[in-house]
Amino acid sequence: MIDYQTDYLVIGSGIAGLMFALKASKHANITIITKRSIDESNSNYAQGGIATVMSSADSFDEHIKDTITCGGGLCHRDIVEKTIQRGPQAIRDLMNYGVQFTKSASNKDELDLGKEGGHSHRRIIHAGDITGHEVKKVLIDVVKNNPKINVFEYHIAIDLVTSKKLGFSTRNTVLGAYVLDIKNSKILTIRAKSTVLATGGAGKVYLYTTNPDIATGDGIAMAYRAGARIKNLEFVQFHPTCLYHPKAKSFLISEAVRGEGAVLRTSDGREFMKDYHPMGSLAPRDIVTQKIDLELKKSGEECVYLDITNKSKSFLKERFPNIFSKCLQYGIDMSCDLIPVVPAAHYFCGGVQSDWNGQTNIDRLYVCGEVSCTGLHGANRLASNSLLEALVFSSNAAESSKKYIENDYPENIEIPKWDAGSAKDSDETVVVTNNWDEIRRFMWHYVSIVRSSKRLERAKNRIELMQKEIHQYYWDFVITNDLIELRNIATLAELIISFALYRKESRGLHYTLDYPKKNDKVFCRDLVYENGKFIEGEKICE
Ligand code: FAD
Ligand code: SIN
Repeated sequence: MIDYQTDYLVIGSGIAGLMFALKASKHANITIITKRSIDESNSNYAQGGIATVMSSADSFDEHIKDTITCGGGLCHRDIVEKTIQRGPQAIRDLMNYGVQFTKSASNKDELDLGKEGGHSHRRIIHAGDITGHEVKKVLIDVVKNNPKINVFEYHIAIDLVTSKKLGFSTRNTVLGAYVLDIKNSKILTIRAKSTVLATGGAGKVYLYTTNPDIATGDGIAMAYRAGARIKNLEFVQFHPTCLYHPKAKSFLISEAVRGEGAVLRTSDGREFMKDYHPMGSLAPRDIVTQKIDLELKKSGEECVYLDITNKSKSFLKERFPNIFSKCLQYGIDMSCDLIPVVPAAHYFCGGVQSDWNGQTNIDRLYVCGEVSCTGLHGANRLASNSLLEALVFSSNAAESSKKYIENDYPENIEIPKWDAGSAKDSDETVVVTNNWDEIRRFMWHYVSIVRSSKRLERAKNRIELMQKEIHQYYWDFVITNDLIELRNIATLAELIISFALYRKESRGLHYTLDYPKKNDKVFCRDLVYENGKFIEGEKICE
């Protein structure tokens, strides 16, 4: 019945999945499956860098304070402290694998430190403005040369296999996954002693996003269907500055550009962020995004502008080579032109509930990276804290999951082969594309930066209708990559709407016109959802 057996099944080849595999390969064999080529992932497009305390002018305490201030009262202090203290080690690990970060111009023995919104100090370790790509390039190389790691590209996980779904009444345990080999249209059954979701975020739930096409929330949807606890999905981060140009598909203008002195302006030249926050254009992301949205609604214009014309061309080319050349490609010379920008869905602070070890509430199931909700980000993530989280938690998970590798495969339960039933080839793929498009549109209009109960209810009605159609389609027709992703996007949309309706207050990234203030008495806590209902989440504020 089993097509393939492995110690660890790692789903996803972003920085979290690759780092987990490298760490765990010291004690086990690893199989990584990834739904496109190994490099394609959110990680590959990360620009700004990795927030870490590396300067004597900075301190862990200040990074902790910035993270907690940004998190709107919902950061778990113990997780924040431990994660931030592990930052320098995470950077050293990457350098030991061969990653070359940009050195300081004044002292080549030190790393250059960038600055981003919400940070009180320069502390962003970066490789030019293509940090994610540089880190991944090195990690992919090391992974490919590691005989204990096998990588299957163009393999997409469909669902996790659990003891509960197979009818066993023991503690729910993940036994592996059903996986579609996309190029050969074949479904494989993979058994693993431990399964790790490193599937990243879900920006594609929204019409406008900085994320690449892979970000369809598959891991969160699979974990939810398997019975995992899902946490804080209402907190979707919208990056304030995505390039606004008809030909630029989701290209980010890094916050590091504002860190080097760029300011946001309206079309009449007003530096509007000064009116709203003492940190001006470098205020935390939730605030900058909401204020851009407000300005655009007031003026009826389509974008605001980023102004870094106070810096020389040579500086900009040296510090932001990728952004500079991309803008130039669209006829924008950053050294003398303003850059048109708009907010776009960027990052999911919520996800699959995980403890400090990346362990979920299901046995043998681990999560690391953006798919997880660890307590680090609270209601709003501080810039460049997510790569740090991915690095720290993938190492923790590799260590903690050893206990499962030492034992045999779970209780020797037989895993049945995938049953295609009477599914036939679809002759109406338009149903998939139409539904996909509609979800992304109404999520953008009703469930994005500014919400209201009426808009959320409207979105809820829509998604409930569509879910019926997608469910029917899923069982009637042969599974394809697009159908798997559509089903997951629909699940994510439904979950986000449920979370947003439940949180009757405004906090961090969740802003609703009907409850515009924080309500600490009732909502200073995580929202946790399991098997179709909310359960009591951890209370954070004293
Ligand atoms: P990803 O890197 O997204 O990897 C997910 C992997 O899972 C991919 O390989 C994907 O193909 C695979 N996958 C997904 N579903 C399946 C499935 N069903 N089956 C098989 N494979 C699957 N954060 C920072 O800290 N600093 C930054 O400077 C920064 N800049 C950013 C810039 C951009 C443009 C974007 C989009 C994000 C940025 N972020 C940044 C956020 C950060 O990059 C991500 O949170 C982080 O890279 C997530 O890493 P990950 O390994 O969890 O997921
Ligand atoms: C950026 O470079 O602006 C992205 C940083 C992040 O998302 O953390």
